[in-house]
Formats: sequence, C-alpha cells, structure tokens
Amino acid sequence: MGVGYKIIDWNSQKKKYDFVILIGIILYLIIFISLHFIFYQNITFETLLIRSTGSLALLMLHIILIIGPLSRFIPQAKILLYNRRHLGVSMFFISAIHGVFSIIQYHGGGNKNPFISLFTSNTDYFSFANFPFMVLGFISLIILFFMAVTSHDFWLNKLSPKVWKKLHQFVYIAYVLLIFHVLLGTLQNEKSILGFIILGIGAIIVCSFHIAAGLKNRKDEKLKFKRERNDQFVFVAKKNDIENNKAKLITFKGISVAVYKKDDNFYAVDNFCKHQGGPLSEGKIIDGCITCPWHGWQYQPEDGKSPPPFEEEVKTYEIKIEGEEVWAKIVK
Ligand code: FES
Repeated sequence: MGVGYKIIDWNSQKKKYDFVILIGIILYLIIFISLHFIFYQNITFETLLIRSTGSLALLMLHIILIIGPLSRFIPQAKILLYNRRHLGVSMFFISAIHGVFSIIQYHGGGNKNPFISLFTSNTDYFSFANFPFMVLGFISLIILFFMAVTSHDFWLNKLSPKVWKKLHQFVYIAYVLLIFHVLLGTLQNEKSILGFIILGIGAIIVCSFHIAAGLKNRKDEKLKFKRERNDQFVFVAKKNDIENNKAKLITFKGISVAVYKKDDNFYAVDNFCKHQGGPLSEGKIIDGCITCPWHGWQYQPEDGKSPPPFEEEVKTYEIKIEGEEVWAKIVK
C-alpha cells in the first residue's frame, strides 16, 4: 500500500453495492423495454436502446445528486455516499451507450463526420423550439467522462481534495445541460406531457433536497455556545453527554471541530477528513483511531496523525476538563 494515498479495498460491502447497482440497471431495462413493447409496438431496437439508456442515466444522476443531501438527514444513507463514485462511473457508461447510439442513429448515415454533423446539421442555436439539443447532451457526456476518469483516489491525491471536490462540482453543470437536453428533445419529438411532468418532479426533488441540506448546514454553522471564556476555551458538553468512542461536533467562529471521547479522555480534532473532507464527527473510534465514516481513513486522537505508514494529519485542539465539563480551545 502506497504512502501517498490509501487504496480503498474492494471489500464485501462495495461488492454488495455494485451488485445492487447491476441488478437495478437490469431490472430497469427489462421493465422499460417491456412497457415500450406493450405501448409502442412499432418501435425500433435502436430507438428503444437510446430511450432506455437515456432515461436510466438521468434517473441514476438524480439518485447520485440526492444521496449527498439525504445523508445529512438519514445517517443510514451514508453507506450510499461512501460508494457513490461506483454509481457515478456506472452512470457514465450508461450515458456513453446512449450517446454513441444516438450519434450513430442521427448523424452516422451522411457524408460528414458524425461529430461535425452533430454540431453543424442544425445551427438554430438561437431558437428555443428548434435548438440542437443533442449538443447539450454531448457536452454533458464529456463532463461526465472527465469526472468518471478522475474519480479514483489516485487523482484525488494528485489534485488535492479541495481541487478534486471543486472539479466534481461540475456534475451540477452536467445535470443542468442534461435537463435542457431532455426538455428540448421532448419538446421537439414528443407530443405527450408525461415527459415534462416527470422531468419537473425530478428537478424539484433534487432542488428541494439541496435547499433543505443547505439550510441545515447553515443552522449547524450558526450554533453558538452557551459559554465562551476570555482564555478562548468554549464549552463543549458535559462529560457524560458524549458517548464513548463517539464525538460531538462543535462549530465555533467558522471552525468545525470533532470532540471525541475515548476511555474517559477527550480529544478535539478538525472535523474534516484529509481524504475527501468527510465529517470526522460522524465517525467513531476503531482500534484506537478516529475512523472517517466515508471511506475509513484513520487518525490518532492524541496527535491527529494517521497511523504509520500513512502521513496525513488533521489539526488538534487543546481540551480542558473542569469537573464534569469539557472545554475546547478552538482557535485558527
Ligand atoms: S473522506 Fe474518505 S475517508 Fe474520509
């Protein structure tokens, strides 16, 4: 195992997760194709493939976007969050099948290179009703491709968690492009209103989850303490209010700190994991180390250092015990 980054094992939990993804994909395709055969008997294989993979990719992207905010409210959803990258890569492959077959079907039969044709066969870029919607899908696919190839920890380590996270925020741009891709495509090719309704419901669900999670974060950030002393120590909790091997999150003047209890001793460390910024306050102490709930990186509570041979380190803060009260000195 290298020192630069820790390889996340393909453990049984991940295998189960991947198995569920595979079964979900197969089930969706079977149901979608069966329903289309019942309601649209003249549909061609190519159209069926394009529709089924396109709708599946969009559904998967909605799930991916909801998992993050959902885990802020339902701790059990964190298991989905830890393995979300697998779902992202699977979604990219489904999108790629959709994209490749669409380009072959709609731009592969002429004299022009299909990619040139994609951008030039319809140049009505200033028309809403006739906008070349496939271009939006193509740009979105390129974004998803870069996100899929950089999803591995190797890139996380190369780029640093901060840059990597920022880069992966591009998923929201891909999402907006896809929404317009489907919206305009449906507008131009479908008479039914059902597609718009489903699309609208999906967008409302994604937005609602993000707004709710944002409000919750703001509330957490605004947590003020009952007591702050001149010596910069702030009140954390009563000793018995923190479970053994667990932590309490303290946010003070914009600094988030996880205060852990281990065998009646207390330790304060920076709340954000060095891997992908996972919330250490939501982890627990395993084998004597604070263990991040997202992918299991570990830190010694005493000095914030990862156990050898790893070299990551989170900042620690001074703790003072006064009677039954735990206080932490939270300064930059
Ligand atoms: S964020 Fe991945 S282990 Fe902490």
